[in-house]
Amino acid sequence: MRVLAGPAALAEAGASEFVIHAQAAVAARGRFTVALAGGSTPRPLYARLADPDAPPRAAVPWASVHVFFADERQVPPDHADSNMKMAYETLLRNVPIPEEQVHRIRGENPDPDRAAEEYEGILSDVFRLEPGQRPRFDLVLLGLGADGHTASLFPGGAALSETSRLAVGVPTAGAGFDRVTLTLPVLNEAAAVMFLIAGAAKAPALRRVLGGDTTLPAARVRPRNGSLLFLADRDAAAQG
Ligand code: 6PG
Repeated sequence: MRVLAGPAALAEAGASEFVIHAQAAVAARGRFTVALAGGSTPRPLYARLADPDAPPRAAVPWASVHVFFADERQVPPDHADSNMKMAYETLLRNVPIPEEQVHRIRGENPDPDRAAEEYEGILSDVFRLEPGQRPRFDLVLLGLGADGHTASLFPGGAALSETSRLAVGVPTAGAGFDRVTLTLPVLNEAAAVMFLIAGAAKAPALRRVLGGDTTLPAARVRPRNGSLLFLADRDAAAQG
């Protein structure tokens, strides 16, 4: 884990890591596949990557970047709760990434299971998967909920026990909107996973995750053959 002074330093560190992974992937395989985190913590990171006056924007080979999403809320892409809307406004509309290389989850589909199946088709096409093969993202960005969830993998949720699907629908019973999420096997297939965590509210969950409390979904993100980095600000990293 790396502890940063606050949200701005967290964004700078995250952007530096993003650049490193992007440049290495493009040098090695001609493209960089990244799954973006939703929620609010990543906003400063995405803004940093898009900032024309900061080094990262010019350092990322955007023409070779393929963007995906770790999860999405089942709302239209112009809805205030949409992860695509957040990523589009902070990053995607401000960098020269080819539009056809932004692979969103169609939140406007009222059926999260259908949306998940559509997304699995996109993953299969873009990663050119053989049957039964999982996509290996060069980088997956994740956040942490105060309850220990990550992406849309919630404590006790059925999605946590999914071992073959690449993405699944997550009905969230009255919590405003259903979701679609990448599954644990896909997260753990990644070459690199980077958690971005900020704020005192996350400190108890982060302590439990780092202590290996696998009752928390985030603690079950352990790349089989990849790196795992926690970037946290001082408040989130506080030892209680
Ligand atoms: C989402 C995210 C979710 C998020 C955590 C932390 O769609 O909400 O995928 O897993 O990363 O809930 O959210 P904040 O960054 O807003 O605290």
